[in-house]
Amino acid sequence: MKLRTRPAGLLLSHLLHVKGIDSIVLETRSRKEVEETIRAGVLEQGTVDVMRATGVGARLDRDGFSHNGILLRFSGRDHRIDFPALTGGKKVTVYAQHEVIKDLVQARVDASGDLRFSVREVSAHGLAGRQPKIRFASDDEQHEIACDFIAGCDGTHGVCRSTIPAAALASYDKVYPFAWFGILCQAPPSSDELIYALHDRGFALVSTRSPEIQRMYLQVDPADRVENWSDDRIWEEFRARLQTHDGWQPKEGRILHKVIVGMRSLVTEPMQYGRLFLAGDAAHVVPPTGAKGLNLAAADVQVLAQALVAFYASRSEELLQRYSETALRRIWKAQRFSWWMTSMLHRFPGGDAFQYRVQLAELDYLTHSRPASTALAENYVGLPMETAWS
Ligand code: DHB
Repeated sequence: MKLRTRPAGLLLSHLLHVKGIDSIVLETRSRKEVEETIRAGVLEQGTVDVMRATGVGARLDRDGFSHNGILLRFSGRDHRIDFPALTGGKKVTVYAQHEVIKDLVQARVDASGDLRFSVREVSAHGLAGRQPKIRFASDDEQHEIACDFIAGCDGTHGVCRSTIPAAALASYDKVYPFAWFGILCQAPPSSDELIYALHDRGFALVSTRSPEIQRMYLQVDPADRVENWSDDRIWEEFRARLQTHDGWQPKEGRILHKVIVGMRSLVTEPMQYGRLFLAGDAAHVVPPTGAKGLNLAAADVQVLAQALVAFYASRSEELLQRYSETALRRIWKAQRFSWWMTSMLHRFPGGDAFQYRVQLAELDYLTHSRPASTALAENYVGLPMETAWS
């Protein structure tokens, strides 16, 4: 079993190890780079559950923050969505993706797993046969590994998806006319819960990383550049977009990091070609609103791990053949949710005043209707898994 990683590949390798199946993880970046890449930080209940159940939940239990709700801020007021009350006790945990990666890397290292960082020139061969091969370069040597299966967990720009003949795949793609400008800053939390705000000037999000470090985002034009945003301009914009009738102010502090991230929805179908199985961003991308990316990757690999466990137990390929269909049912629902949250909470360029009024009406409805709030809550904490990991 050969894999490429981050974080889908690492979690898959870990889940397989728990069930006594060997794998090799190949990663083009270094361990340091992998462990330091900053991404979203909201874990669904199911993602937390699988980490705990397989022995990688200790640091998450110690350092993660349980959040029982989010605040939707519009027209100068907050409206709380109470997750446990609406979902029968479920909640989310704020714990950064690179911390999840560190925990998984450590677990694989502790179990003497085969992880190879900084590999180059990776290519996959013989996907339609019974023994596909991966070739790669590492330490100035060429390597070839023959395996039973390849899990393509190498992200949107990885080699796995592009190795599949284009005619065998369908892609469904949507690019949004805005991006997120994200900062990390050194300040105490401005709020106990995440704030998703829609303002005439655009979307803003208040999130957190720790009692000392906060994560915040502003909607910007996709062609905007980090250099255009002085610290003063950033805080002025956050103050404007997050203003409330009772004078709320974000807690400001030294800005440690600035980044612009594009926003896109993408699904590639099917997620299998012969003995190559795609998982995570290699098969699908969501816009960041709602933080589904890592959770979707974690759900994919649970389905795939179960199918592989069944294969090694009985040589039955039935679950493997159903992998794509099973995973895609959940993926499309998460795509719908991410697209909906994004569409509801951003200003669309072109100054469409009618659309903006409809967005505000939708938020008003959502926050005053229990069924509508429930629909948001159950998607945010994570829809049930198609297959339960045990
Ligand atoms: C974060 C990112 C998100 O996309 C989101 O919806 C909530 C939080 C974050 O980076 O903390």
